[in-house]
Amino acid sequence: MKELFPFIGFEEGKLKVEGVFVEEVARKVGTPVYIYSKRAIEEAFKEFNFTYLTAFAVKSNSNVSILRLLKDLGAGADTVSIGEIFRALTAGIEPKKIVFAGVGKREEEIEFALERGILMFNVESKGELLKIEEVAKKLNKRAPVAVRVNPEVDPKTHPYIATGLKNSKFGVDFESALELYKIAKESKYLEPIGIHFHIGSQIKELSAFKEASLKVRDFVKELRSERIEIELFDAGGGIGINYEPFKEPPSVRKLSEILKPIVKELGLKLILEPGRRIVGNAGVLITQVLYVKRNKEKTFYIVDAGMNDLARPSLYKAYHYIDGTTYKEKRVKATVVGPICESGDVFAEDRELPELKEGDYLAIFSTGAYGFSMASNYNSRPRPAEVLIDGDGYKVIRERETLASLIEREF
Ligand code: LLP
Repeated sequence: MKELFPFIGFEEGKLKVEGVFVEEVARKVGTPVYIYSKRAIEEAFKEFNFTYLTAFAVKSNSNVSILRLLKDLGAGADTVSIGEIFRALTAGIEPKKIVFAGVGKREEEIEFALERGILMFNVESKGELLKIEEVAKKLNKRAPVAVRVNPEVDPKTHPYIATGLKNSKFGVDFESALELYKIAKESKYLEPIGIHFHIGSQIKELSAFKEASLKVRDFVKELRSERIEIELFDAGGGIGINYEPFKEPPSVRKLSEILKPIVKELGLKLILEPGRRIVGNAGVLITQVLYVKRNKEKTFYIVDAGMNDLARPSLYKAYHYIDGTTYKEKRVKATVVGPICESGDVFAEDRELPELKEGDYLAIFSTGAYGFSMASNYNSRPRPAEVLIDGDGYKVIRERETLASLIEREF
């Protein structure tokens, strides 16, 4: 098999994920369908074996079967809502491997997490810290906390997913963080256990990690001088992937070479929260061409997936490599659009693509992260099925939604 991405490629002109032809899955399960490679996820996860804990960012792909697979490899979970904690626990991830971040934690979410004994709360404001203290007091527990600091570095990524900049809603500056640590240290109901930062997503320049980590290192030293001792150094997620086939992504080994000496010097344990890097390239979205529409200027491939199924291109103008599931030498310029009633429902504009007819399939690559997890029911479209490939076999890990499921909570 000629691989475009790990474990995904063409064999005898047909697209395969591991040992399974995707057209076979598309015919049996229908389209649109997300297909994931188990091996690709496993291999990507193993790259992070230098950490104390790899807390998979559940928001990137929240399917319980994927979480279970990662749990079996030793993963923890980085969560941002009660729903994500519920999913992680359902997958069997131990509470002591769950971190809980997010700028707007509700009281009931804090209570749920505290009762179950999660590893730590990544705190994003003073108001939140005091709320956690209040809930902990009510439950007569001590809440383990890390303050999410904002190291103010530029990760050079899309502005929508850069989170470590000065004017970001995330985290707090070092000065305010010190105040929060002092409050936590003094409180009977809070335990300062770690420090957290996350500078953005789809980061390709590893120097941003270095810059941020060094700033955080200096801050940890400042904490020590105030006799505040912590244990965990959580450097967040954000390491990017390559959305182009046949290309090397930024090196996880190099990231480890940046982070390891810093945590070693501090005598802390390293946590990372990768999402995209573990599942991003492991998924493809298979969609069927409904119509080929030509006007004077353009050829449109109107496909059965829409921006509700995969939001990234319309939301961020994100690039996803697209190809036919049957390889064809001859290429034409075409624009791939979905059926949604919005002009932004475009997957690719004037791309070199195989000449296709109605009923042919297209694969939208690198859709394992922030694909299904961001899908919606807009235009009253049932969300797609998800399939996990394991060697020569496959399993539906989420059934396609039905018409009934669209209205099940309405009266
Ligand atoms: N930790 C925290 C605190 C985060 O906010 C995020 C992502 C991660 C970890 C995981 O980042 P990753 O390793 O996946 O880059 N929907 C956007 C991405 C939003 C990322 C939000 N936070 C997209 O489709 O590109």
